[in-house]
Amino acid sequence: MKFFVDSADTAAIRELNETGLVDGVTTNPSLIAKSGGNILKVVAEIAEMVEGPVSAEVTATDHATMLAEGRKLAKIAPNIAVKVPLTMDGLKTCKVLTDAGTMVNVTLCFSANQALLAAKAGATFISPFVGRLDDIGQDGMELIADIVSIYDNYDFGTEVLVASIRHPMHLLDAAKLGADVATLPPNVLTSLANHPLTDKGLKAFLDDWAKTGQSILDDTDMAEA
Ligand code: G3P
Repeated sequence: MKFFVDSADTAAIRELNETGLVDGVTTNPSLIAKSGGNILKVVAEIAEMVEGPVSAEVTATDHATMLAEGRKLAKIAPNIAVKVPLTMDGLKTCKVLTDAGTMVNVTLCFSANQALLAAKAGATFISPFVGRLDDIGQDGMELIADIVSIYDNYDFGTEVLVASIRHPMHLLDAAKLGADVATLPPNVLTSLANHPLTDKGLKAFLDDWAKTGQSILDDTDMAEA
């Protein structure tokens, strides 16, 4: 499973990227606005520091302007994935861009039928928003299950990129369903490593080690490694 960071906070992305666990980044107009930066500069900085796909979203709603914006965003770096909304104009733009070799992430997906259209439009990634479905009392993970099943029936090349993740259980369920990618807010990604028994066990190990008075690095009882 690939882990993408769902953020336009370049400092947070840089810190997480240094763990070696980051396979890509997704941004959207709200995340760009939150960053306070210029979209072209912020996306260029992210694409330079992260090797994997970096999603940058168009802001037009008509095909012609989406296409112009998408082509401009794609020129920022080879690893740019142009994000388009799941509308007929977005799908039309997706088809043109992917036919030309540009990665496209079709976003704001809330139904399996929408996901089916995105795959037929040649989307590189489909972004179903699980958290926003949960927010209105629907089961976001049921949508992921449907999409994974449908895509497997027809061997579509589109990768299921689970988005709008609110907590670690969303990630766990997405992984159990075989989703290709999860895009994680920085706080969710870092929280995955946390467990109280790990903390407790590590403290016990180090307390016992301290009683030995030993130090691995200071030990001179063997030839320099
Ligand atoms: O960036 C796409 C998606 O992850 C946004 O999620 O938290 O705004 O519902 P959210």
